[in-house]
Amino acid sequence: MRSILIMNPKGGCGKTTLATNLAGYYAVTGQSVLLADFDPQSSSLDWLAVRPETCPEIQGVAAYDEKFRASKKIDVLIMDAPAGIHGKQLTDLLRRTETIIMPVLPSPLDVRAATHFVEELRRINKIVKSEVKLATVANRVRDHTLAGNDLTEYLSKLKLPNGKKFPFMATLRASQNYIRAAEKGLSIFEFAPSATETDRNQWKPLVRWLNSVRSRP
Ligand SMILES: Nc1ncnc2c1ncn2[C@@H]1O[C@H](COP(=O)(O)OP(=O)(O)OP(=O)(O)O)[C@@H](O)[C@H]1O
Ligand SMILES: [Mg+2]
Repeated sequence: MRSILIMNPKGGCGKTTLATNLAGYYAVTGQSVLLADFDPQSSSLDWLAVRPETCPEIQGVAAYDEKFRASKKIDVLIMDAPAGIHGKQLTDLLRRTETIIMPVLPSPLDVRAATHFVEELRRINKIVKSEVKLATVANRVRDHTLAGNDLTEYLSKLKLPNGKKFPFMATLRASQNYIRAAEKGLSIFEFAPSATETDRNQWKPLVRWLNSVRSRP
């Protein structure tokens, strides 16, 4: 089973957006998906609750509330982390995953918060030893903005203490498609390709990385 954790302690950076869209992506490609919501706000489960029955099935679990073990039938486990996780809660979650995706927004406050979090990650053995692989994603980026450029420059330079890079795998634009998809329990991969072509293309390097051995320990 593939296990992917979407995490960044900063609130509102796009964790649930990435988790639900990634769940949709894998479901559309015929995989059996379990979406584990670790956030008591339960936004991922709320998304699942409005998902049309005609769409490929995604299973959900309220991981904030119950201990769970993914069944053998699950191909991909996607975990949506809550805001504010640090310390023990963080190391507990890391035990369950082989890959982390960390979305960051283009704002000085978000970049500063990411810097603190990266410092914490750089002290965690599992990360330093590449037993968990982490990639970053610039999210909600507007074209040709200074904040967008600053963020992509910052993310492309992030390194582990041993000099290895945290791969910077995608820049996702700010798009109403994500908001409309969220409202309907869909992913952008379930909207008309003509309307979502730009967004789908922006996911390609991330998805390629996730489907390659580079994203696994
Ligand atoms: N690329 C994007 N374009 C447009 N809107 C976006 C994008 N990414 C996220 N959003 C919107 O930003 C808001 C916050 O996103 P989201 O809920 O995914 O963040 P989060 O990190 O899960 O937040 P929390 O920390 O509260 O769990 C949502 O309204 C979402 O629809
Ligand atoms: Mg969330």
